[in-house]
Amino acid sequence: MRHTLDYINTYTDNFKPEIGIILGSGLGELADKYREFAIPYRQIPRFPRLTSIEGHKGQLVFANIVGRKVVMMQGRMHFYEGYSMEQVTYPIKVMKELGVKTVILTNAAGIVNKSFRPGDLMVITDHINFMGTNPLIGRNDEKFGTRFPDMSEVYDKGLIKITDAAGRLLNMNLRHGVYMATTGPSYETPAEINMARTLGADACGMSTVPEAIVANYCGMKVIGLSCLTNYASGVSDRKLSHQEVLETANEVKDKFIALIMMILQNIK
Ligand code: HPA
Repeated sequence: MRHTLDYINTYTDNFKPEIGIILGSGLGELADKYREFAIPYRQIPRFPRLTSIEGHKGQLVFANIVGRKVVMMQGRMHFYEGYSMEQVTYPIKVMKELGVKTVILTNAAGIVNKSFRPGDLMVITDHINFMGTNPLIGRNDEKFGTRFPDMSEVYDKGLIKITDAAGRLLNMNLRHGVYMATTGPSYETPAEINMARTLGADACGMSTVPEAIVANYCGMKVIGLSCLTNYASGVSDRKLSHQEVLETANEVKDKFIALIMMILQNIK
């Protein structure tokens, strides 16, 4: 961690980010638009390198957005790409060390709750970790958090209120729901989606939960936002494709970015 921070600090100088944002599919534009400076992951010592996936750049982007100092991850590491859970969540610990107090986690997700529609934005109110592992497994570093962290309010209620208010101002019909994470990379089967619904999930995806667990553990406040890109398996007759996910995410991105900016304006 020391090497990582020393390197980042050679760039950041007096720039102390207070808010961290992980940009999901389609949101890279926010980083492109407001970038003050960016550091490619591959240059940062100990930082996991991005292997693949189209549409993701792989850099830490520092910016001033509506007067807030933010650090953004343009491109995230997914467990299904073969990174360890520790690698997937390393950037969250880096953000913590940089002084970040609040993280905004965004993603694209499939619709489990049949009353939701593709293109809707969902505020994550809670999650179900169905990845079969946990990013905190292993020796605990008390510097970051306690061995057995409480998880009763991972998604900060005050920040959910701020998000709802932002949605109202923007005339958006924001959904609320529980996000279930599986490892992927295969999409779920219809039986798995029925199970997810029975268990109380409203949306499903392959990210965010590891980062949320670690951010909560480190004492950071978390906002989770899902762009609902498609009906999950069996919810409609259509087959699922990454193409469809990217297309919907792209159609919704202006709305999504407007929401994030309004939230940034109103975070205390
Ligand atoms: N399932 C899992 N992950 C996803 C989906 C889905 O339907 N859509 C976007 N990410």
